Amino acid sequence: MTISSEPLVLGIETSCDETAVGIVMGRRLLANVISSSVEEHARFGGVVLEIASRAHLEAMPSVINQALEIAGVSLNDIDAIGVTAGPGLIGALLVGTSAASGLAIALNKPLYGVNHLTSHLAVDLLESSHQIQPAIGLLVSGGHSSIIQVNDFTDDLILMGATIDDAAGEAFDKIARLLELDFPGGPQIDRLAATGDAGAIQFPRGLQSSDYNFSFSGLKTAVSRYLKETPAAIRADVAASFQEAVVDVLLSKALAACRATGIQRLIIAGGVAANSRLRAVATERCQRAGVELRVPPAQLCTDNGAMVAAMTSLAVSAGASPSKVGLEARSTSPVNQPIWS
Ligand code: KG4
Ligand code: ZN
Repeated sequence: MTISSEPLVLGIETSCDETAVGIVMGRRLLANVISSSVEEHARFGGVVLEIASRAHLEAMPSVINQALEIAGVSLNDIDAIGVTAGPGLIGALLVGTSAASGLAIALNKPLYGVNHLTSHLAVDLLESSHQIQPAIGLLVSGGHSSIIQVNDFTDDLILMGATIDDAAGEAFDKIARLLELDFPGGPQIDRLAATGDAGAIQFPRGLQSSDYNFSFSGLKTAVSRYLKETPAAIRADVAASFQEAVVDVLLSKALAACRATGIQRLIIAGGVAANSRLRAVATERCQRAGVELRVPPAQLCTDNGAMVAAMTSLAVSAGASPSKVGLEARSTSPVNQPIWS
């Protein structure tokens, strides 16, 4: 089977609560359809696996059809199918890998099981023509906070550091709960913080060590204690000061990784990359450091199918071997395994 240098790829993402399908041609984004069950989880304060899996099953056929319609292509035009095979919630992942395997068999097209984490960074491929690697990836989501040295997206990634406790997004969600904001808390804190004073309270930065690991549990405790001890606390100031502490530590370590490796390109991705303060401070600090900053548009930072299609497009273009049909979904998957065998 020959595939053009501009493969038409359909990517499926179901690792958490978004049923998402993206279609890309080479580096061009043709469709990005997302159906989220987030509102069904809100009253539980977090994602409930059974609800997420059922919602994926219900949404999958219509999300695939909508994506094809928007892209103006038919299933027969697709050159390759990509799917998030891990990490994520196993029951949720299985819906995606089953759907993708079924499509690959029915269409007789190659299937690529790809890593959710590298896909978050690979979305930088889309709608641009710039060089995307080597890069330092700062991946900040609800489940992960990692610094990744990307020498080659398809076969040479090094995990430089990660959180030793909460993920950055998880910290946002927990502090939002303390501030009585709705789930998911990141966007709510982002909005509230815009009206507050980021310098009002000096919260701790956590793990000021010279490595690339993060810790957010001390910060969470400090905010919780501050709220208990300060009955007249101004919630917007707390949100802004908390956000400032997270942004500061994330960028200090990411830029230290750029300095240490000599890689002058930083990709920030994952749900927390949608944070407006993180984007603003990153722009300033990268400019000062002479580092090229790449941050995907906000709708491509949170979970989506376009990122899976982008990672798959990279795999196809690099001549990577497809995964076996019926590939195994895995709840934990190291970043140095970007494509399933
Ligand atoms: O990447 P993502 O959509 O799902 C995971 O793979 O985890 O990330 C979701 C996380 C949630 O914790 C959410 O609160 C956070 O990203 N998030 C934000 C913002 N938008 C989403 N955090 C801070 N500021 C935002 N604007
Ligand atoms: Zn994600």
